[in-house]
Amino acid sequence: MGMWGASAGRFPPISWDPMDNGREGVGLDPTMDLLARHVLEFETRLGPGGSVRAFFSPGRVNLMGAHLDYNGGLVMPTAIDRGTFLALRARPDRRVRLLSTLGGDCVEFELDDLPPKRVGQWFDYPVGVLQALGGSARSRGMGFDVLFGGNLPVAAGLSSSASINVGLAMALDGLWGLDRGPEGVVRTALEAERSYVGVQCGIMDPYAVGLAKPGHLLCLDCSDASYEHLPFDSERLVIAVADTGVRRELAQSAFNERVEQCARAFGILGPLCPGAEVLCDVPLEVLDGVEGDLDPVLGRRARHVIEETERTKRARLGLREGRVDELGRGMFAAHRSLRDLYEVSVPELDTLVSVAESTEGVLGSRLTGAGFGGCAVFLLERDAAPELEARLRSTFGGHYGREPEIHLFGGDPGPREVSLA
Ligand code: GLA
Repeated sequence: MGMWGASAGRFPPISWDPMDNGREGVGLDPTMDLLARHVLEFETRLGPGGSVRAFFSPGRVNLMGAHLDYNGGLVMPTAIDRGTFLALRARPDRRVRLLSTLGGDCVEFELDDLPPKRVGQWFDYPVGVLQALGGSARSRGMGFDVLFGGNLPVAAGLSSSASINVGLAMALDGLWGLDRGPEGVVRTALEAERSYVGVQCGIMDPYAVGLAKPGHLLCLDCSDASYEHLPFDSERLVIAVADTGVRRELAQSAFNERVEQCARAFGILGPLCPGAEVLCDVPLEVLDGVEGDLDPVLGRRARHVIEETERTKRARLGLREGRVDELGRGMFAAHRSLRDLYEVSVPELDTLVSVAESTEGVLGSRLTGAGFGGCAVFLLERDAAPELEARLRSTFGGHYGREPEIHLFGGDPGPREVSLA
């Protein structure tokens, strides 16, 4: 739920051309070229010289386990080959300079004198990472200049904030020799968002970005952060995302309201289930037994969470046994539940998902991210991509008089330094 997204900035968005779909790599791996241009941009804005290092940190889509992370459940995200670019140069002193291709002035401060409070601007995220790294890491470290940019669609529910935080935490881990490893980097990124930026987000996003493995979904248990990587056939199947272009102003408060409703529901249901520590632990029979006495809104929220937990477990079992269709069916069912029980969909998302349901070769589709606008995600046979794109454009265009932005994503190996030599 970041308020700032790394966007294409001055780079043209790379959108999916279905005619390229069959050709190896075309339109799917633009990262190197864009990163090289990003480094040139750094030198233009911050001056030449020294060694400028380039880093990439992906975004993510979540396929199953919608709104389960803050309820202590299972989620199944995967990283995508779009994300945040960082061009970074170490400095001989303790100054830090932060710049973004999205505009705004350069933000400067001393490493020993961080801005004390968030100000509601994009640089809250990197400052939050510096804060979360802790005083002893900062005292071991050195100053640096960094330019952020990227090619993630902005504010589309693809986790730009986790992408930025994990990217910077990983880059500084290397630069300062902290050696905290991928899970340490993920924890720093999470802490930055929760403490300094002040968003009570679930743990899914930084884990999805930081522990990515190509050709796999990350199956993360948000009650204890244990995880496994589940393979899916990324030769035959692809992930697409269509952006409705709808951005709900009240999305953050509506999200917080869902978090609070789930906490209230667990406050009532938890004591009825010995051993249950989170709402996802509550058995459906317990809810069935008391739903009539519950506030109907809390009943609907709890039903979504408990049934989505079951669907996600079935999808996990399916993937372990090589049955990806279970995941696809679960995605369609999840969307209906997000629409009717959790009430976080909008008509534009419902239109996209219903087109997917009637398109051959599409295994599953649902809204991704928090909802309230943003994107729908599709799991489909690679060959079905051109037909799906045409149908999405014409049906959505017929209803709303404009076309959704459509992207076809490849998987991603996760945050890394990229050698441009
Ligand atoms: C947003 C949050 C995630 C998760 C999803 C809903 O994207 O950032 O942590 O709660 O909503 O599944």
